[in-house]
Amino acid sequence: VTEPDLAGRHVVISAGGTREPLDPVRYLGNRSSGKQGYALARTAVARGARVTLIEANTQLPDPAGADVVRVGTAVQLREAVLKAAADADVVVMAAAVADFRPAAYAPGKIKKKDGEEAPAVTLVRNPDILAEVASERPREGQVVVGFAAETDDVLANGRAKLRRKGCDLLVVNEVGERRTFGSEENEAVVLGADGTETPVPYGPKEALADTVWDLVSGRFQEM
Ligand code: PMT
Repeated sequence: VTEPDLAGRHVVISAGGTREPLDPVRYLGNRSSGKQGYALARTAVARGARVTLIEANTQLPDPAGADVVRVGTAVQLREAVLKAAADADVVVMAAAVADFRPAAYAPGKIKKKDGEEAPAVTLVRNPDILAEVASERPREGQVVVGFAAETDDVLANGRAKLRRKGCDLLVVNEVGERRTFGSEENEAVVLGADGTETPVPYGPKEALADTVWDLVSGRFQEM
């Protein structure tokens, strides 16, 4: 039996991976399937929360009981997250957000031309949604949770990212072409801004999600 320890709480979760269009047929994307974010949404519903799930480019069935908002790009995700965060008790950024987008969008398909060099793609920075939410805190006592997808120096990079982003909790997981992305399992260390470290052994993405909710719910009890 799951305790309804998130009853009365509005939880906003982002999931999936943003796609940044180059032209009408191509985009820059990433390997996120959305499974970790959806596991967070399902477990939050089970624990009694009102859940807004903001998804980017996933192929997963809507979690029962959650409000689902669909977006494509990082700029669209930012708009949807900031809107939902205005009355959220918790914001969890599990989505893989493109740090850069093509500087220009070609309205027609980019063509290869005989005798010409391959075109160069110029990128510009996307907004950092997590850092923005963490610095704004529109609601008092709001808990902001980020993820860190790292391929090397996982914990050291995670600790630096926690400081840089200013969130309360950061779930550090290792990723690779066949690691974490798209799989049913995950393994992580949840870092707290107060210096706590909670290791979560390899197991279903729901188990990691429940550890995140245990930590969030513990913070609410302290307030
Ligand atoms: O979707 P799955 O296939 O289940 O895979 C799960 C996952 C690997 C995608 C997930 O567990 C995960 O790690 N998500 C975060 C991916 C990511 O973008 O990590 P990052 O280290 O690049 O970003 C750090 C944090 O800042 C993240 O919370 C991210 O949502 C946020 N961010 C990043 C860039 C940006 N411009 N804005 C952001 O808000």
